[in-house]
Amino acid sequence: MKVNGKHYRTVWMQGSTVYLIEQNLLPFEFRIFESKDYHDTCKAITTMIVRGAGAIGATAGFAMAQAFIESGGDAGLIDKARSEIENTRPTAQNLFYAVERVYHAGMADGQISVEAAIAEARAIADEDAEACRKIGELGNELIKDGCNIETHCNAGWLAFVDYGSALSPVYAAHRSGKRVFVYADETRPRGQGARLTAWELENENVPHVIIADNAGAHLMSQGKIDMVIVGSDRIAANGDVANKIGTLEKAIAAQYYGIPFYVAAPVSTIDFNCPSGADIPIERRHQDEVLYQCGPGSDGRLQNVRVASPGSQALNPAFDVTPAALVKGIITEQGIFHPDELTSLRG
Ligand code: MRU
Repeated sequence: MKVNGKHYRTVWMQGSTVYLIEQNLLPFEFRIFESKDYHDTCKAITTMIVRGAGAIGATAGFAMAQAFIESGGDAGLIDKARSEIENTRPTAQNLFYAVERVYHAGMADGQISVEAAIAEARAIADEDAEACRKIGELGNELIKDGCNIETHCNAGWLAFVDYGSALSPVYAAHRSGKRVFVYADETRPRGQGARLTAWELENENVPHVIIADNAGAHLMSQGKIDMVIVGSDRIAANGDVANKIGTLEKAIAAQYYGIPFYVAAPVSTIDFNCPSGADIPIERRHQDEVLYQCGPGSDGRLQNVRVASPGSQALNPAFDVTPAALVKGIITEQGIFHPDELTSLRG
């Protein structure tokens, strides 16, 4: 996607350095973060410099490749790095998918191959971008001219290597000349919708408005929303969908008002070893994300401001699980599937 006329991917690797769009600074500042070793790349994942399923996956794959480079041929160090990378964030399936692939490519036939690890990490990033492009093409077929679409969190190109999942059909529809309008949920506590989705839509000239998280059901009741498209961090084999906290409420409201609720995700987000949503680990994040809000002060520098009663604590589950029964279809690069058809995709 283009920023100020220049094409960027969310994450890429040159030599042994991993480059990331610094998402904590957006939309106020556009900066590239350079990570010289796998430790720093892990830190970039835990501190949310990079976030979103596919982007985390590609970054984790590159971190694994960096670990091969840094290992000096010591398999023990590679194993240690693998477990460190896997412990950065628990919910996004793409992270485990990418680490597993790079690890096995670099360890094939019992020999350590740095070149094979790097090539696999690059392939994962390329595949992620291509899968999301295809999701856009296929998802566009569901979008009618004049469609009003609600989305939650950021499942745009910032959440993947390029194109995005939930937003990719929106971009494809907009580029094909259809009139589309997006209601972007602000997505408390971190505000990925208000900050990242809105910034992306603005860049792409897609008409949109930010809504408070609790405005969705009201707008649905008013007939303002024609469809909901969200991304996913992990999809269980039975079609249950983990996504950013607050997604479940939208799905319940959408069903009540007869509004189609779609999930867009590459096949790499499906965890075929996870029987149902109850088995998906849900990340608990720090309470300060709820208690404080971040934005530029009068000097333009980002600062955290407490927005909650000083004596209170907060509970901060980062994801929820939407039961398959509430999902009309899952838009993947291989087609649009009913949730109970997913096992046919198992490789
Ligand atoms: O905590 P985050 O920002 O990494 O959350 C992940 C997400 O971006 C969302 O849940 C998104 O809707 C699906 S991932 C493309």
